[in-house]
Amino acid sequence: MSTLETILSDATSTLAAVQTMPELEQVKAKYLGKSGSLTEQLKALGAMSPEAKKIAGAAINQVKIHVESLISEAKSRIAKAELEAKLAEESIDVTMPGRTAGVGGLHPVTRALERIEALFSTMGFAVADGPEIETDYHCFTALNTPPNHPARSMQDTFYIADSDHVLRPHTSPVQIRYMEEHKPPIRIICPGRVYRCDHDATHSPMFHQIEGLWIDEGISLADLKGTLTQFFRSFFERDNMQIRFRPSFFPFVEPGVEVDMEWENKGGKIKWLEIGGAGVVHPQVLRNGGIDPEKYSGFAFGMGLDRLAMLKYGVNDLRLFFENDIKFLGQFR
Ligand code: FA5
Repeated sequence: MSTLETILSDATSTLAAVQTMPELEQVKAKYLGKSGSLTEQLKALGAMSPEAKKIAGAAINQVKIHVESLISEAKSRIAKAELEAKLAEESIDVTMPGRTAGVGGLHPVTRALERIEALFSTMGFAVADGPEIETDYHCFTALNTPPNHPARSMQDTFYIADSDHVLRPHTSPVQIRYMEEHKPPIRIICPGRVYRCDHDATHSPMFHQIEGLWIDEGISLADLKGTLTQFFRSFFERDNMQIRFRPSFFPFVEPGVEVDMEWENKGGKIKWLEIGGAGVVHPQVLRNGGIDPEKYSGFAFGMGLDRLAMLKYGVNDLRLFFENDIKFLGQFR
């Protein structure tokens, strides 16, 4: 067998067995690359006589064309096999259910708030708002807690360096802001975010409060008790729910109370849970808000909204509300 015949038969069997594109590239180089066997044959022509060159050149070219056509056949065979494999792997099961967009829902704290706003609006309360970065004056001084008063330490406030502003530690400054702008009768609730340097299962550094303020002629502690008892019974849908008012101190009310609600713990035991502070608005606070305490009186309260949501939905750790875990939040849709 001549060298050319050997090259052709070798190329025919090798190319028939090639399975991948990289392998094919290697085989192609073996025959037609810079030092491929057919290229070497062509290089050898230079040393031949013109007559011999013509005959040998024609024979080499014939084999070269043959090998090139074998390469192109192998190429289309491999491309077809690769496509088939890809299609088999990526086959679509048309019977599978499609992917639908997830259904969103309101955050449990927002749901509790919407319910609270609706209940208070049936009792004639409007909703008011105030800034979260608040002046020291509105947070404390105007609320009868001057600088250096020990009651300031009741709230672990975030102070802003070199400024007379703080992150409000309670919603009570909205009382003053509202009184500055409106005259009695005043009947508002003010929900919003508040901040304290606190962190455990029932305390979060950012939480929500709802302030309440009712000022008119002849408003007393009895009105406070009636309003809050009615609210708790409606919110928790328990007509005989007991509310306890415990004497307490807040500089901006006199008398002041702590409001506890009756609650059944996991073991079925009846417990009292503190849910907010309240009281009859201090005459000095009315004066600071531009209201005559000889003519008007009122009550105020401040409740922890997140704690109300915890009790309403049976959540035992306040921090779960702020971790943004979709699995947890999805339960409240
Ligand atoms: C106050 O903030 C008063 N401003 C309430 C008030 C308003 C009294 C009007 C009188 C008149 P206190 O610090 O107790 O009070 O907070 C009120 C409620 O906020 C608490 O009962 C509790 O339910 C909630 N609370 C307090 N700290 C946190 C916290 N770190 N995380 C979650 N809830 C909290």
